[in-house]
Amino acid sequence: MQFWKNPYKLVPVRIAEKWNEPHHNKFVNISLEFLNIEDRVGFKYLPGQFCLISDFGYGDIPMSIASSPFEGKEIFFVLDIEIEREREILSREEGAIFGIRGPLGKGYPLGKFEGRDIFIIGSGEHFPELRSLFWYLALDDERSKYGKITVVLDSNAPSLFSRKGQLPELSELSNIEINYSIESILSSDGECCDSALKLISHLVPDASKSAAAISLPLKAAKTITEHLIDIGFARENVFISLHRNIRCGVGKCGRCNVGHKFVCIDGPVFSALEIEGLVMDE
Ligand code: FES
Repeated sequence: MQFWKNPYKLVPVRIAEKWNEPHHNKFVNISLEFLNIEDRVGFKYLPGQFCLISDFGYGDIPMSIASSPFEGKEIFFVLDIEIEREREILSREEGAIFGIRGPLGKGYPLGKFEGRDIFIIGSGEHFPELRSLFWYLALDDERSKYGKITVVLDSNAPSLFSRKGQLPELSELSNIEINYSIESILSSDGECCDSALKLISHLVPDASKSAAAISLPLKAAKTITEHLIDIGFARENVFISLHRNIRCGVGKCGRCNVGHKFVCIDGPVFSALEIEGLVMDE
């Protein structure tokens, strides 16, 4: 059986490259290269899905895929040097060999974005799957299926959407606008700042014809979701990634649940309608 028909099968990869985006020393990108070409060819994923990176002898680490399927043959991830298990991987040199399982979980329901203006809202630490989604939509050969893409990011996050400091000429990409919140979207207590809510309201021309993808800490994600609903978004068109809740990634530890749903199995991407009223741990 080829592994993509069994995403839990461990497949060997090597670190092809590690790099920092300018001014973001806390985050390090690693691109992984499949050792076997048939694994690479068969690895089909959607924005929002995640993988388990298996550091032999140290267990598996769930990581959201930060690359888009349209960006080329590599897949890449963004690791945080302040997280011990991620720092462990980053201590390895280029060429080091790991295992990978995936893609896992449910990605963004791309069909739901068709015919709509799309708002992508995230902060610096919660952006990998949003980056994947953005470049999927922006580089899709059938870009005209989607309406205008508006990105709202922290003021300090511009280079996190780039690749080695390079953003393709946005003027070559149609109907895209990137906005940066003047201050951080998040306040020090993890809540969403009023200025970010105002910016979002200001940017939305017709909420009934729009969809949104949010990736933020839970408290801020809830606030922004309710704000979007208040200004006219349909609950089924607001999508929230809860990938940071994932621990084991395979439905066994029971630590990722949102009400009766497991983020690792039923998510990590949920519509606001799917998780309406469910209890979520902060
Ligand atoms: S992360 Fe362990 S059950 Fe979901």
